[in-house]
Amino acid sequence: MTIMPVSQDRFSIKPYEPSDVQATIDIFLRAIREVASKDYSPAEIAAWAKVDDAEVWAQYRASRPTWLAVVGATPIGFADLKSDGCLDMMFVSPDYQGKGVASLLLATVERAAREQGLQRIFTEASLTARPFFERKGFVVVAAQRVEKRGQILSNFLMEKVLA
Ligand SMILES: CC(C)(COP(=O)(O)OP(=O)(O)OC[C@H]1O[C@@H](n2cnc3c(N)ncnc32)[C@H](O)[C@@H]1OP(=O)(O)O)[C@@H](O)C(=O)NCCC(=O)NCCS
Repeated sequence: MTIMPVSQDRFSIKPYEPSDVQATIDIFLRAIREVASKDYSPAEIAAWAKVDDAEVWAQYRASRPTWLAVVGATPIGFADLKSDGCLDMMFVSPDYQGKGVASLLLATVERAAREQGLQRIFTEASLTARPFFERKGFVVVAAQRVEKRGQILSNFLMEKVLA
């Protein structure tokens, strides 16, 4: 199965490559520290915004389809899709919030899910991301409290049934 690049305005989507590892770490950390920080306490953000082992991170990224949104050669967001339909990661650079980057990434994820014959996509959405996913047709299955490095963070198990 080949997933063709899609583009919207000046963003485009490309498949993750191993050389993108640091870019995804940087986007992950900045999105949490500079965007999700409006919804979580400083202690919660400090516990969440950590990558203990870049090698393990790289293995996770390479273990499943992961897509990057790019402007030219610069990564500005990324998302992934596990084989069970779990959308584990959806992070957009603080410099490109509210411009449709996550929408483009999600459209790519949904298309891949349909091509794989998946009936549903699910995610553990942060307080920050919940309105985005609701806007895109996801519904809350359960409110959750999850432990991260000694802190208890609120999030939402959400799912979208694919037509
Ligand atoms: C959540 C996130 C991925 C959204 O990315 P984005 O590129 O800004 O989203 P988009 O521009 O594609 O937004 C799409 C729609 O969702 C809406 N939306 C996005 N974030 C929203 C928010 N926090 N509150 C209300 N609406 C929101 C937008 O207004 C837009 O609506 P429209 O279709 O009417 O224009 C981004 O804010 C982010 O990286 N957050 C911090 C990290 C995080 O929490 N990631 C999720 C971990 S589970």
